[in-house]
Amino acid sequence: MKFVIINGPNLNMLGTREPEIYGKEDYASLEACCKSACKEAGVLCEVYQSNHEGEIVDKIQEAYGNADGIVINPAAYTHTSIAILDALKAVGLPAVEVHLSDVSAREPFRQVSYAGMACIKTFAGYGFEGYRKAVKYLREWIDTYKEI
Ligand code: DQA
Repeated sequence: MKFVIINGPNLNMLGTREPEIYGKEDYASLEACCKSACKEAGVLCEVYQSNHEGEIVDKIQEAYGNADGIVINPAAYTHTSIAILDALKAVGLPAVEVHLSDVSAREPFRQVSYAGMACIKTFAGYGFEGYRKAVKYLREWIDTYKEI
């Protein structure tokens, strides 16, 4: 089983970027956390980050036929991108949305998630741990529903 873990814009600035919201650990640590979560769940993974909407769409499309599930933190594109929503719907792979911060308790413009409309579950406000939860949830969801 293989998952693609996709991170959107400015997540490469973790550690430097608003540490009071996103924490002090850097993107390399997040990548390591994602890889260890996948290892723990017994799945292969690719961890990808881009600041560009079209590249994220390309990565979602590339997952079709190459991966069994997607974990995605579209970052700011969460709240704006119908293209990412459409890409998730187009490939039809089970996807789980993650946010480091609790977006539901932040500015009103963060209350809408387009990508979330194509996801089976969202974990928000758990920091890096949210990715671990997402990987575990996705693995269990696929084990339960894939062959049905
Ligand atoms: C974020 C929340 C988004 O609103 C924000 O634009 C981000 C990060 C999070 O992980 O908490 O860049 O997705």
